[in-house]
Amino acid sequence: MNIGLIGSGGREHALCKKIHESKIINKIFCFPGNAGTSKLATNVNVDILDFKKILTFIKILKIDLMIVGPEEPLVLGIVDYLKKNKIKVFGPSKYAAKLEGSKAFMKRICSKYKIPTAKFKICFKISEINDFLKKCDLPVVVKADGLAAGKGVTICKTKKQVIKVSKEIFKGKFKSSRKVVLEEFLEGEEASYFIIVDNNHFRFFGTAQDHKRVYENDEGPNTGGMGAYSPAPIITKSLEKKIVSRIIKPTLSALREKGSHYNGFLYIGLMIKDFNPYLIEFNIRMGDPECQVILPRLNTDLVKIISFAVNNKLKKIKISWKKNKCMTIVLCSKGYPGKYKNFLEIKKLDEIKLTKNDFIYHAGTKFKNSSLVSNGGRVLNITSIGKDFKNIRKNIISIIKRISWSEGFFRKDIGWRIIKK
Ligand code: AMP
Ligand code: GLY
Repeated sequence: MNIGLIGSGGREHALCKKIHESKIINKIFCFPGNAGTSKLATNVNVDILDFKKILTFIKILKIDLMIVGPEEPLVLGIVDYLKKNKIKVFGPSKYAAKLEGSKAFMKRICSKYKIPTAKFKICFKISEINDFLKKCDLPVVVKADGLAAGKGVTICKTKKQVIKVSKEIFKGKFKSSRKVVLEEFLEGEEASYFIIVDNNHFRFFGTAQDHKRVYENDEGPNTGGMGAYSPAPIITKSLEKKIVSRIIKPTLSALREKGSHYNGFLYIGLMIKDFNPYLIEFNIRMGDPECQVILPRLNTDLVKIISFAVNNKLKKIKISWKKNKCMTIVLCSKGYPGKYKNFLEIKKLDEIKLTKNDFIYHAGTKFKNSSLVSNGGRVLNITSIGKDFKNIRKNIISIIKRISWSEGFFRKDIGWRIIKK
């Protein structure tokens, strides 16, 4: 079977590696991939939003199954487009992708089906913002309704800031939508729960905790994620039951009532408060960097699982996981998440000796005149699997120190909640 994979981040390098290990594949093509995927697959340089061109490549390259990594093509309807053209593709439809593509859509489902989430109001004008502010204590969370490349959420400590940020969204700061979703601020511990879903069933696909803030001690602005680990010890069996019964089942049946099914990975972003789960967000894909810590723990053939999902036979497959723990630390380019330079050379990465339990997933990298250079804010994901998080982190940091890249920085405190000093 020939596989096509859309995306170019650390998540896609991790997916590509697992696809490469599959017993049932022939060739892999990455659209467009990165320097890491180019060693396992053929990179095809194409704009991931140019669906027509992607379809042309799928036909020329005789691809049997397409797997979509990032949210943007999913929200814009790549699955519907490819299916209409008789291509097998793994990922949610445009309608189901609204779970991530529109926070207002997601919140309306929460209200209708009594799914636990922060109190909220969907606002179209300033008077509605003022009404919410009269009823809700500060801080207030202001969210752009549509996709905003991780920049659409602001936790506001003053009413003035709520109004300023909301006005910017109303004026069209984000092209995806001009609606504002205001939310009460939820206190607690964040964790993510993953499932793989087909038209009839879903299966557990791991838990993880990410570190969104750029600096140690969770300071500084939000990023795409600076490091993660799996499993997330806060998600106990009893909490899992609540996540399934209070959040997952009502959401999937809400979609079904609308005549739509969910097919793909589903990322359930949670706030855990007093042993109860509250839905913060849905992502209609694997997380990045969460994928990089979940996949190394997977025993079952990934392509087999995805093929079962695409054919609505998930019920028939058993997915098995390693007991070992996994962590990744993201090596970023100085300046990220603000301005940073691109095309900075990373020398002799291949000469670093790794054990079979260590992986360096490329995120923002490419080859330029056969030199490896950075090509994004999050550049490499240094990942390791082992028995205890403290030693895993020590090992990852020792690997990073051997990558002599003076243009980079990373957080040394990934896993602070679970690693006692
Ligand atoms: P989102 O894109 O909705 O996941 O929001 C990004 C981040 O903002 C989350 O990972 C949380 O850290 C934070 N956040 C979002 N909504 C809330 C909320 N209602 N209460 C507290 N923190 C929140
Ligand atoms: N790491 C957060 C995300 O993938 O959205």
